[in-house]
Amino acid sequence: QTCFDGVSIKRETSLRLNLSGFNGPLIRDKSTTRFCEKERCFLMEKKITVLPGDGIGPEVVASAVKILQVIGKRYNHTFHLGYSAIGGAAIDQFNNPLPDETIAMCENSDAVLLGAVGGPKWDNNPPELRPEKGLLKIRKHFDLFANLRPVKAFPSLLASSPLKREVAENVDLMIVRELTGGIYFGEPRTKTNEGAVDTCIYSRAEIERIVDNAFELARLRRGKLCSVDKANVLDTSRLWREIVEEKKAQYPDVEVEHNLVDSVAMKLITNPGHYDVVVTENMFGDILSDEASVITGSLGVLPSASIRGDQFGLYEPVHGSAPDIAGQGKANPAATILSVAMMLQYSFGMKEEAAEIERAVNAVFEDGYFTADLAREGDRVLTTEEWTNKVINEIDASFVSESIMISYN
Ligand code: IPM
Ligand code: MN
Repeated sequence: QTCFDGVSIKRETSLRLNLSGFNGPLIRDKSTTRFCEKERCFLMEKKITVLPGDGIGPEVVASAVKILQVIGKRYNHTFHLGYSAIGGAAIDQFNNPLPDETIAMCENSDAVLLGAVGGPKWDNNPPELRPEKGLLKIRKHFDLFANLRPVKAFPSLLASSPLKREVAENVDLMIVRELTGGIYFGEPRTKTNEGAVDTCIYSRAEIERIVDNAFELARLRRGKLCSVDKANVLDTSRLWREIVEEKKAQYPDVEVEHNLVDSVAMKLITNPGHYDVVVTENMFGDILSDEASVITGSLGVLPSASIRGDQFGLYEPVHGSAPDIAGQGKANPAATILSVAMMLQYSFGMKEEAAEIERAVNAVFEDGYFTADLAREGDRVLTTEEWTNKVINEIDASFVSESIMISYN
């Protein structure tokens, strides 16, 4: 385990997320930003904790780190990286899926990049010693209540979608999943041989903060919000729906609809283009985001951001650790690379840099380069590393491995 040098940055959690990454004026962190008069641009210095995790996590994270390097070089930013353990890797090393050292390093950084956790090796562990526990704990510890999962069609991937082209094209939606409440964390929870209990619980404040942010986000997009619940059965859903109704008046420019989760599961397949921002509670969001993720062709291209009221955030691909293909160079690094783009946008306000990564990823797909998950008959299958190099070449053909990045490892 390693530690960052320097002072830790104090953060205050507010109810409103900093949405400056989406649009509007940039809020720059003065302590880590300099304006370069000569180049007329901002030079930033950021600390990122890297948690490779299990399965294909280390491979896709290695790709994403290379993209950070090339962006750093091209735009003159300095990214300090510190590596730490989470999930199964941390259980093996420290008998703890989220060691204190890992928390400390994350606390002392501006953002966290995570690969994936989990694998058959730990499947029979007791609940407290499961890799997934590390992920749930880090979300809760840092109060990362807003999970953003954008689902946007890449035209060149549509042939791999299980849906008809006419249905899948033009999909551009954002799932806003509440991430630190509901049945994932509710008490009591017990299990004996004779029975088990999980508790779904939401406070008004928890619902209000996620709903407010979903409204704000809808405002910056196409102005449509679909709130997903099961209000015909669940009391938590009834409260959720009431709060969305109350909030409507504050956002007259946003068009709101309420939909039951079972119906949304169906409409995501029949008419996904209908949706703009979809806001929902933790468990529904988990399920719907996996469903929505394949619309675009592969789970391997879906990034996510888990954020809270300030600029700190955790960025990870939506796909899991895929232990069956780990270590074989088969993994698609696109989701993790796009997660880095989300980090640049939402945590660092680097909109241009984020857009450049998205452009490069799209260009590589357009050129017909794919990893195994997306390749069709006749396509040459690229390894994780080969595909990453194509993206690097798109961003900066002159990139050489020496870079301005300082990595502690
Ligand atoms: C996800 C995952 C996690 C979740 C698991 C690994 C705990 O499925 O990020 O969607 O259920 O939230
Ligand atoms: Mn999931």
